[in-house]
Amino acid sequence: MALQDYETALVTGASSGIGAAVVRALCAAGKKVHAVARRQDRLDALAAETGCIPHVLDLRDQAALYDTLGALDVDILINNAGLGRGFEDFTTTPAADIDVTIQVNVLAALHVVRACVGGMKERQRGHIFNIGSVAGLYPVNSAVYGASKGAVHLMSQNLRVELAGTGIRVTEICPGRIETEFFETAFDDDEAKAKFTKGFNIMQPEDISDAIMYAADAPWRVNVGLIEMTPTEQYLGGGNITPVPGR
Ligand SMILES: NC(=O)c1ccc[n+]([C@@H]2O[C@H](COP(=O)([O-])OP(=O)(O)OC[C@H]3O[C@@H](n4cnc5c(N)ncnc54)[C@H](OP(=O)(O)O)[C@@H]3O)[C@@H](O)[C@H]2O)c1
Repeated sequence: MALQDYETALVTGASSGIGAAVVRALCAAGKKVHAVARRQDRLDALAAETGCIPHVLDLRDQAALYDTLGALDVDILINNAGLGRGFEDFTTTPAADIDVTIQVNVLAALHVVRACVGGMKERQRGHIFNIGSVAGLYPVNSAVYGASKGAVHLMSQNLRVELAGTGIRVTEICPGRIETEFFETAFDDDEAKAKFTKGFNIMQPEDISDAIMYAADAPWRVNVGLIEMTPTEQYLGGGNITPVPGR
């Protein structure tokens, strides 16, 4: 059971960035691909380009999520839709930013898996990809985003345990910075956005879809559990010291 044995795929967050790149790669590999996001114009353009099947859906609408996704047979799930807020200062992060980050990155991600995994079990065929982040593995600079991606990390680890014996594979992808619309959503001003995206060779969405296709195409005996990937010029950790004023 490798890529050639899977027939259908579902990609959430397909209207831009990583999601759109994975839709292109899966369609090119001959899969029937369901593409989910809120922006219809983007999905329609992607459908015209690739032949994917668009589903306009706000994943925060739980009833609509189960109605739409529960009706699909999904072999490969790319659980990708997400956003980051709260990178500036936790004390001033609007409450609504905390809520939307958790609603999409955690709650919707859990319900998307739940909507698809029953059918995978019945067909004894499935591969779940959860798009986490290095922010789910290491401290970065958003308690909100880090909390959401930390949850994705442990969801992935625990799914491996809960799905033991079903034949369903689970892969978590933990990227560093990628040039996508993520940073348009994350920051309200261009200067803050530029600090995160300029001055180094940032990864491209296709770098992530390449990694996903590698894990999907590994022989069935292999479960690629976690892929951590950063730009060569981005590293995590380090010995920065910030003195506390007055001490
Ligand atoms: N870019 C990075 O540096 C980076 C690094 C690590 C991890 N990630 C993760 O990678 C994933 C994909 O992000 P990206 O970088 O490709 O950013 P992106 O280009 O902004 O894509 C985010 C996708 O999520 C969809 N989405 C957001 N809220 C949604 C909702 N309520 N319902 C349905 N779809 C929703 C968006 O579509 P609509 O707006 O059309 O709904 C869009 O297609 C996210 O989980 C992100 O946390 C990104």
